[in-house]
This record gives sequence, C-alpha cells and structure tokens, in this order.
Amino acid sequence: MNKNWWKESVVYQIYPRSFCDSNHDGIGDLNGIRGKLDYLKELGINVIWMSPVYKSPNDDNGYDISDYQDIMDEFGTMEEFDALLAEAHQRGIKIVMDLVVNHTSDEHAWFVESRSSRTSEKHDYYIWREAKDGKEPNNWGSCFSGSAWEWDENLQMYYLHCFSKKQPDLNWENPEVREDIYKMINWWLDKGVAGFRIDAIMNIKKKLPFYNLPADRDDGMCSTARMLEEAEGIEVFLNEMADRTFKPHNAFAVGEVFNEKPDALPSIIGEDGCFSSMFDFAETILNKTDAGWYTQEPVTPEQYKEACFGSQKRAEGIGFLSNIIENHDEPRGVSHYIPEGDCCDASKKMLGGLNYMLKGLPFIYQGQELGMENVNFQDISEIDDISTLDEYNVALAAGLSPEEALKKVSHFSRDNARTPMPWDDSENGGFTKGTPWLMMNPTFKEINAAAQINVEGSMYEWYKKLIALRKNPAYEDALIYGETIPYLREQKNLMAYMRKGQNQNILVIGNFQRDAQDVVLPGAVKEVLMNNMDCFAQNGNVLHMEGYQFVIIELA
Ligand code: GLC
Ligand code: CA
Repeated sequence: MNKNWWKESVVYQIYPRSFCDSNHDGIGDLNGIRGKLDYLKELGINVIWMSPVYKSPNDDNGYDISDYQDIMDEFGTMEEFDALLAEAHQRGIKIVMDLVVNHTSDEHAWFVESRSSRTSEKHDYYIWREAKDGKEPNNWGSCFSGSAWEWDENLQMYYLHCFSKKQPDLNWENPEVREDIYKMINWWLDKGVAGFRIDAIMNIKKKLPFYNLPADRDDGMCSTARMLEEAEGIEVFLNEMADRTFKPHNAFAVGEVFNEKPDALPSIIGEDGCFSSMFDFAETILNKTDAGWYTQEPVTPEQYKEACFGSQKRAEGIGFLSNIIENHDEPRGVSHYIPEGDCCDASKKMLGGLNYMLKGLPFIYQGQELGMENVNFQDISEIDDISTLDEYNVALAAGLSPEEALKKVSHFSRDNARTPMPWDDSENGGFTKGTPWLMMNPTFKEINAAAQINVEGSMYEWYKKLIALRKNPAYEDALIYGETIPYLREQKNLMAYMRKGQNQNILVIGNFQRDAQDVVLPGAVKEVLMNNMDCFAQNGNVLHMEGYQFVIIELA
C-alpha cells in the first residue's frame, strides 16, 4: 500500500453550529472555531472536517446551500474563513470542507432561475417531470419521508428532491451542471483547503426512466435508496469529477458512500479510485429497517464486532476506509453501541480504542473525545432535526403513543450529537453567553472539556494518548499500514484483533461485556501500550480481563 500524508492523519469533525459561539447569538461560528484551534492542536489531530459553512437558509442545517462561494451569515464572513484557514495552517492543521453537490437549496440562484420558466437557460439544472394522472411522476419517497417530488405551481411540473423539498436534486446528466460544480470545487482547492468530505454522493446517479418501485413503507412509497441501488453508471461522473478536481490538486476526498455496488470498492478507494477514502457505515446501518426508526433494535457487541471485521476484510488490499463511531447524523456512539446500562468511562474508552485501532483513517466527532452521551430528551419540542421529527410522525402513524414514539426516535436522533459542545461547567457549558440554538446536553456540568484536560484518567487524555500512539512513527508499520487480523473471533463479547505490520505485531483486545473473561494470548507480551484499567492480570499465556477492560499490547 502506498504511503500518503492523509493515511497518517487523524481527522476531527466540527459541526460549526454547535462548536463555539464567539458573538453570543447562540450559534457557533468561524471565529469560535479559530479560538479553539489550540485545543485541537493539543489533542493531536491534524485535519479538521467542517460540516457546511456555506450560505444557506438552514432548512437542513447548512446541507441546503444557496451559495457555494459564500459563508453563512450566522457563521461569519469569507475574510474570517481565510483567517481560520491561515491560523489552522500555522498549527499544522489542514481544513477539509463538506461538499454537497447532489442538491442545492431551493434558494440557490440556479434553482431560482430553473423554476422561473420551462425555457430558462438553467431549467435543466434540476430534475423536472410532468405530473402523471394529476399526481407525482412515481412513488419515490424522500429520505426525510413524504414524496420525493414537489409540485411547482408556476411551472405546473414536479421537481425531484431526495432530501427535503428545500433541497432540489441537481441534474448531473447535464454537462453544464458538472462544469459549474468542478469550477466551484477548484475555486476552494485553489484557496488552500486540503480536500472534501463528499455528501450523499451516491445519490447523483438516478435510475432512469422514473418508473414506480415496489413500496417499502405503508404509505405506498419506496425510498430513493432502492432506486439508487439499481442505478448504473455512477463511476463515469465520479471519475470525471476526480480527474477534473481532486487529482490535479492531490487533494483528499472522503465519500459519504452508501449503497455502492458490491464490487465497486476498487473503483472508489483503490489506488486509482475516485476518492481517497470512504466512510465505513457497516456499523451505523446495523438493524436499520425500511419501516422506520421506531422498529429498530439495539446493536449487540457481536454484531458490532462482525460488522467491523467484515468491513476490514472487504477493504484489505484495496484501500483505506474512514472509521467513525458517530457523526452529526448519528446518535452518540457510546450510547448506541454499548449495551444499555453499561455506559461508563471504561466501556467508553474500550469502544473508542477498538474503533480507533482498526485499519483506516480515524475520525473523531466533536465531543466524542469527552465521552459525550445521548441526550435524555423529555419532549419532542426539544428536538430540531427534520429527520427525527419525520420519524416521530412515522412512529405516531404506526400507532405508538407520543411517549413511546419520543423514547424510540430520540435514541437515534441526529440531535444527540448536535447539542452544543460543553467547554466548561459555566452557564451553557461555556458554548455561548446567549441562548444556545439547541439545548445543552444536561450532562455538561460533569462532561465538559475543562473538567478533563490534564486530568489523569479522563476521556480526553485517553483520546490524546490514542492519537499520539497512532501518530508515533515507531508504530506506523503496524497501526497505519498493517493488516487487521481478527483474533479469537468466536469468543463471545470479546473483540480482539491483531494489527500486523512487516516487523511488528500489535494486539488490540476489548472485553465487550460487564463480566470479566479470560483471554488466551497468542504470544509473549513485549509491552502494554495502552490499558483502560490499572490491572493487567496475566498468568502464563492467559490474560484475565475485567468487564470492559481494553488493552493494546505489542507482542514480542
Ligand atoms: C448527508 C448529511 C446529512 C444531510 C444529508 C442531505 O447525509 O450528512 O446531514 O441531511 O446528506 O444533505
Ligand atoms: Ca455566533
């Protein structure tokens, strides 16, 4: 496998709205991020991915862009962005932007022009269809529930939106659209950003022609995800985009890739693939159902382990995955993957360590390094996220009581991860002196950055050590470029694997349960590199591990 700067990196995801508010209007902003660069440098990360900061009316918190080459008013100005970029570079930190090109906002100038008349120059920038028997052209449902088609009174036509109706899908079949997108990408790369995280990218190729698909929800609709599985030929667009933008700039590109074809990995993340990397979502999609969040079961440790190992095997010899336990679309990983009632410092450190040491590029989502947990939402009015509100209605329609529906959907809510970052235990966790746009997680009095920095045994210090270990060139052979080999895979609630380099063998073991268990070691211990407990009970070749104990061992 070729060596590369980004493979040796550790990425930190910032959700700008919730990171730090510098002017006290309750909304995080670019100057807030600037003020925290030293915090990030100290943690040890060297790349920041920021969720969208572009001009947006905020129907989907910035994922609905009305101007790609301008900054959202609430977040600041382009001058402040340039200053952020320069100040990050001074600290050896690169900036990766979010690239949202499956759709724009309906307030983007292209869409305004597109919908102005059937003959406007930009009409074909979006996907318009005639009504069929006075109704939607087909039964596709949007990802946020409801039809994927919206009627336009003026044009007397429907337009397609895979996400909210304020996020019309761009028509990638139109070469002028693609040219405009490449121009915009290159503009940002020329500015000095290191690359992009590419949003919902598998959605750009639709299945043509637009006939009905078998319904997967009670409302007779079929999720656009089904249609995407059947669409052919996306590689042509992806390669063209890469050749025209990322590759000439040697930029980093990580795809939000769902529903790729089983044999598509080499063309996506292989040496000549269109992206540097793609997220491994095998864990996040565990137990998801078409019917809705209210039917989703908790993930078991065995499921988690198998999903991780499955992904590692799939990518081995092909390319580098990007590993996460959470992001701005997911519940907090520690609340999602650790069995209910067992979430504690030890189990959180174990989960972080298990995920972190897998082969691939580790991402940390803001607050993960503090061990942030899901929010115990008390009322649906506390929730802002459109997808949670939609799923709540789906649950109500299925007959759940409001209490049951809230309990079910709040476990999966995107707002769990979107509550503001707690910096200290002062009012609003030091995030803002105003009123935060979304409630603070009430745990902020205990779980906050100030309570953990330089505190022996804290989650923050744990992550700092994990990062330092991965960035230590002495372990690069195994921890970055080495293969992942599952160990004692059959042993229940034990997740163990070796990272095997050319000259190094590192064993990672997590006892993924409350009870202690014994683990037979494969060889002599040279050094215990990390341990989330004080004890290391080795007797001959048997290691006695406490519940949720986690160790990283260099084998002799
Ligand atoms: C991606 C983003 C998500 C957004 C969606 C539509 O999945 O991560 O936050 O809602 O795309 O842009
Ligand atoms: Ca602000």
